[in-house]
Amino acid sequence: MERTLAIIKPDAVERGVIGAIIQRMEAADLRIREMRLVRLTKADAEGFYAVHRDKPFFDNLTDFMSSGPVVVLALEAPDVIRHWRRLMGVTDPAKAGRGTIRREYGTSIETNATHGSDAPETAAFELDFFFKAAHR
Ligand code: CMP
Repeated sequence: MERTLAIIKPDAVERGVIGAIIQRMEAADLRIREMRLVRLTKADAEGFYAVHRDKPFFDNLTDFMSSGPVVVLALEAPDVIRHWRRLMGVTDPAKAGRGTIRREYGTSIETNATHGSDAPETAAFELDFFFKAAHR
């Protein structure tokens, strides 16, 4: 069994597709172990995305992620990190495969509807960021 951190981003919350996205998770047998609606501060977003600190898109990304509420979830399933990333599709919605969440609900590489941890180490950091020891 594995866990990952998923985020339904401000663009998707604003468009009213929280339910549609959670339905995809449940249909794929990804179990929701923790879930919360939160409004990140700019500093929260900077801490969460610290690995991207030196990227040119960091300031825009952290502005966007603190622009409105997000839903954070701890998902559990075998191989869930890869599975959730497959369901989301690649970062840029324009390049994401048909039927993926980002293709369907994302509108740009920044407003791309969802986030998912990319490896076990980042999943551990990101789960701790929102759920501390509760996810274990
Ligand atoms: P996410 O999976 O949340 O991880 C980092 C985010 O940075 C990514 O999704 C994108 O939404 C955002 N981002 C914005 N611009 C870029 C870019 N040029 N390349 C990659 N990611 C970007």
